[in-house]
Amino acid sequence: MNKQVKKDVDIDAIERDVQGNILRSYSRHLVRHLMLEVTNVAAARRFLGVAANGGSEAVPAITPGSDWGKAKPPSNFNIGLTFEGLKALGVSRRTLQTFPVEFSQGMTKRAMKIGDFGDSAPDKWPAPFDTPEKVHIVASIHADEEGQLDKVEAQVAKAFTVLGVRDGRGLGRGKVFFGYKDSISQPRFKWVKDRTQATADEPLDPLGTILLGYPTSMEDMSFRVPYPDALGLNGSFNAFRILAQASYDYEIYLDEAADFLLKHKDVDLLLPPGAEKKVGKGLDRHAALREIVAAQMCGRWRNGTPYETSPDTMDPDPDVSPTNFDYSAQSRCPAGAHMRRANPRGGHIVQRIATYTRRLVRRGMSYGPDFDPDDFDRKNPDRRERGLLGNFLCANLGAQFEAVMCDWLNVGLQTPSITGTNDPLLGANTAETSRFDLTLPDNAGTISIYGFPRFVTARGGAYTFLPSLTAIRYLSEL
Ligand code: HEM
Repeated sequence: MNKQVKKDVDIDAIERDVQGNILRSYSRHLVRHLMLEVTNVAAARRFLGVAANGGSEAVPAITPGSDWGKAKPPSNFNIGLTFEGLKALGVSRRTLQTFPVEFSQGMTKRAMKIGDFGDSAPDKWPAPFDTPEKVHIVASIHADEEGQLDKVEAQVAKAFTVLGVRDGRGLGRGKVFFGYKDSISQPRFKWVKDRTQATADEPLDPLGTILLGYPTSMEDMSFRVPYPDALGLNGSFNAFRILAQASYDYEIYLDEAADFLLKHKDVDLLLPPGAEKKVGKGLDRHAALREIVAAQMCGRWRNGTPYETSPDTMDPDPDVSPTNFDYSAQSRCPAGAHMRRANPRGGHIVQRIATYTRRLVRRGMSYGPDFDPDDFDRKNPDRRERGLLGNFLCANLGAQFEAVMCDWLNVGLQTPSITGTNDPLLGANTAETSRFDLTLPDNAGTISIYGFPRFVTARGGAYTFLPSLTAIRYLSEL
C-alpha cells in the first residue's frame, strides 16, 4: 500500500469498517433480500452487536469491505436500515434530524420525483412494500448455494419478523432481462482496488461519492455526515428497487420498430444495403434493425460492446475497450440512450458541472422465470413477472440517485434535443407520448421512433442507510 496514501487516508481501516458490496462487488450467483421489522428491540440489538463483531454459531457476521482474497466466505450478509428502522432501534430524535430529508421521507413519498406513478405508483406495490413504515431493515444474503441462503435466513428470523423475501440470481454471461450484458461500467474509487474495473479510464471518483465523511468531486464540498460520527461516518445510502421488466413487450416492440424502419425512406442511411452482415453474425435485415434499435436505446449492443466506439458492428475486430470511451460531438450513440443519460461521461451536456458528481454504484440480480429473447413464443405472451432486484448506492440520494432518475433518465435535461423525452429502456413512458431519436451515420440526422410503452415498472423498494460496522455496534448499544 502506498505510504503517502496511508498517511492521509487509512484505506485498509476504511475497508474493514465499511460494509461489503459497496466498494467492490461480490460476484455471487444468488441473492436473498429479507424485509425485516424490528418487533423485539432487545433481540434486534443483540443480533446486530454479534453480527458486527464477527458473528457466532447463531448469528451471521456482517461482511466488511476488505478484500477477502482467496478466502471466499460461504455467504455474505449485509444490512440497510430505513429511517423507520433507525427509529425502531431507538435512535434519538436529535440524531434522526441529521439525516437528509429524502431518506427520512422514504422512497414512497418521493414517488413523483423518481417516476413512480401510474403502474409504478407505491399504492400498487405488493406486500410488504404496501406498508413501508413496517419495513425497518433490508438484509441481503449473497451466496453461491441456496442452502447458505436458507441457513442465514433462519438465523435472522430468530431476531426479527420477516415481512417478505425476494430471491434473485445471475442469469449467466453477465446478462439481465432484455438480453443485455450488464454491470460493465461502475465508478472506480481512489485507493480502492477493483479488479473488474481495472481498465476503465474515467476519472477516479473520490470516496465521498459513495461514503459519508470524505471529499466529493465537488470542489471543497462534501455531504453532511449524520450525527454522531460513530453512526454516520463510513455509511452510504442505497435505493433498493424491485423493477419488473416487460421482456415480452420489449422484444415485440423491437419487431415493430424494425417493421417500421424497413419501410422508412431513410432506412438505407441507417443500415446501408448489405451492412446487416456486418452488424452481427447471421442477421438478416430485419434482425439487424432490431439489434440497432436495442443498441441505440441502451448505448451498448446487447453483448456489451459500446455503441460509441463500434456503431457498425457488435463484433468489432480488433476488440474495443468495454469501458474506455467518451461521447464525442460527432457521436453516433444517441444522447437519449440509457447509459448516456445515466452517465454522460465527459460529453457536452447542459448541466455540465454535474457530470461526474452523480455517479452511482449499481449492484443487482435478476428475479423471475427465464426469458430467451432469441427464442420465445410470439403468439402466447409470457408476461409473468420478472425483472431486476437493483441497488443504487451513493453518498446522497437526492443529489445522486434522484437527480439521475428525474433530471436525466426522465425529463432528459442533458441536451435540448432530448429534453421532454424519457429514457427509452426504463423511463416513465406511455405509448401515446414516447419518442426516441435513432442516430444516422455521417451526421445525416435522425429517425424518430414512437409508440413504446413503459418497459420497467417499480414493484417495491426502500431507501436504506448502509451503516459502517462501527455504526452497527453503536446501534446495538443504544
Ligand atoms: C431494469 C432496469 C435497468 C436495466 C435493464 C438497465 C440496463 C443497463 C445496461 C444494459 C447498462 C449497460 C451496462 C453497463 O455499462 O454496465 C446500464 C448501465 C447503466 N445504468 Fe442501467 N439499467 C436499469 C436501471 C437503471 C437505473 C434505475 C439507473 C439509475 C438510477 C441506472 C443507471 C445506470 C448507469 C449509471 C449505467 C452505467 C453507465 C456508464 O457508466 O456508462 N440503470 N444499465
